[in-house]
Amino acid sequence: MELKDARAVVTGGGSGMGREFCLRIAEAGGQVVFCDLDDASIKETEQQASGLAGNVTGVRANVTDEDDVARLMDGASETLDGLNVLINNAGIFRDRLTVKKDRRTGEIRKMSLGEWQAVIDVDLTGPFLCTREFAARVIEAGTRASVVVNMSSAARHGNRGQANYSAAKAGLVADTRLWAVEFAQHGIRTGAIAPGLIETPILTGMPPKELEALTSGVPLGRLGKPSEIFQAVRFIIECEYFTGRCIDVDGGLSM
Ligand SMILES: NC(=O)c1ccc[n+]([C@@H]2O[C@H](COP(=O)([O-])OP(=O)(O)OC[C@H]3O[C@@H](n4cnc5c(N)ncnc54)[C@H](O)[C@@H]3O)[C@@H](O)[C@H]2O)c1
Repeated sequence: MELKDARAVVTGGGSGMGREFCLRIAEAGGQVVFCDLDDASIKETEQQASGLAGNVTGVRANVTDEDDVARLMDGASETLDGLNVLINNAGIFRDRLTVKKDRRTGEIRKMSLGEWQAVIDVDLTGPFLCTREFAARVIEAGTRASVVVNMSSAARHGNRGQANYSAAKAGLVADTRLWAVEFAQHGIRTGAIAPGLIETPILTGMPPKELEALTSGVPLGRLGKPSEIFQAVRFIIECEYFTGRCIDVDGGLSM
């Protein structure tokens, strides 16, 4: 599929990579409806998109809420006159060691069930709900070629302090494979992307020393750019013989 023909839903389009994806698809002439949680970030993406070849429309929707997701897909389908691209990008993290003993006090601290569940809800249940509702509409409409792009993470391989996030991002790669098989007969392809450390507000707000320590573990020696992750998004959308796989775009971090 060419980007100019995309009728895309992007989750978490109010910031970071989600915003980049909305803008680059619209720049190429594609049409986008994105969701996020707050009006200010939604408005900012819409403003940045003004004047681009394609339209970018933002709506408030929480990907963990079944009714919100159904409304998002119905509204997007109407606005775009059908759907053919879904980018499951919205994500959060709540890092903590599963169990930690304080060196000084001996106190035991645990990752709470709330911290576990919040990340599973947004990073795994959200993509499940969005993919289910997207696919149901695409299949019902008889759309012949469409694609789901899932934002995983280098943490899918298992990252210290990220039991919740690693499980969600690995689960998303497993679902990318099984959806490729389940949906192939309906012309729906899938693909996942596992970014390493990417220059988005999550990281750029970190103290420089911490950031330096993080990047020192990256073979290519720097953070990635959202535009470099978009190159993988573009490939998954455009390559009609690609489905079910995860592309690691991480500067060599997870080798
Ligand atoms: N930045 C990185 O280094 C990095 C690395 C690997 C993977 N990722 C993944 O890439 C994706 C984008 O990351 P980013 O760095 O651009 O993050 P970001 O925080 O800049 O943007 C994520 C957006 O998702 C939105 N969001 C969060 N919960 C939501 C919900 N329940 N419903 C709807 N929207 C919601 C947020 O409001 C935010 O605007 C995430 O899935 C993240 O886990 C990021």
